[in-house]
Amino acid sequence: MSPMSPMNAQNWPQFSLRPLAGQAPRTALIRPVAPGEAAKVLALQEVAIGPLMFPITPQEVQDMLAGGHGCILGVWVGDDLIAFLAITVPDLGEHNLGHDAGLPAEALPGVAQWTAVVVHPDCRGNGLHVRLLRHSLDRLDWPQVRRWLATVRCENAFSLNNFLAVGARVVTRMRKYDGHERFLLMLELPNSH
Ligand SMILES: CC(C)(COP(=O)(O)OP(=O)(O)OC[C@H]1O[C@@H](n2cnc3c(N)ncnc32)[C@H](O)[C@@H]1OP(=O)(O)O)[C@@H](O)C(=O)NCCC(=O)NCCS
Repeated sequence: MSPMSPMNAQNWPQFSLRPLAGQAPRTALIRPVAPGEAAKVLALQEVAIGPLMFPITPQEVQDMLAGGHGCILGVWVGDDLIAFLAITVPDLGEHNLGHDAGLPAEALPGVAQWTAVVVHPDCRGNGLHVRLLRHSLDRLDWPQVRRWLATVRCENAFSLNNFLAVGARVVTRMRKYDGHERFLLMLELPNSH
């Protein structure tokens, strides 16, 4: 697969966050995490992952930031990373969730995966998960991608609702990664075949 750049957007979208009690309003911005910012992704995951997400490894973060097989979109307040959405474009092997979704072999190269999403607890309730999902669908310039897949622990209602809100649907339930039961979600772009 040829390298793909998520960096096509010139003007990163800015928006206001709900102010924390007694504090000034904050302006946030969505932009991709750069290769030198891996430590910020891992630090945010460390403090904010909670019990319902399977963590991404430092190596996976490095691979996504290197480009070519994915990217990580960040929500930034100044230099502070307050949320991220990690995206993988898998090869055709076992990590491609298209196998679990029962996709035919010819559809597997058109799969992208929402691999991880984390919002700092102080910033939850701003719709950042949905905002990041929409950004990935609208702004990433990846013409070969026809289907987006993700898994969500069945009890993770906050995350599930956000995937459903952008149009993903539950394909099946299965035990995956750490053995917990998960929904497999898929969003098919128009004219997918
Ligand atoms: C899933 C997650 C990214 C959603 O964050 P978000 O985009 O800020 O969520 P929303 O804006 O949709 O929040 C809607 C409401 O649910 C609340 N909420 C969201 N996540 C919550 C959580 N983990 N615990 C308690 N309440 C939560 C918000 O405060 C908000 O409440 P309000 O309407 O009263 O203000 C976030 O919960 C998170 O980072 N969880 C830990 C990692 C994880 O499980 N990721 C998903 C892997 S599939």
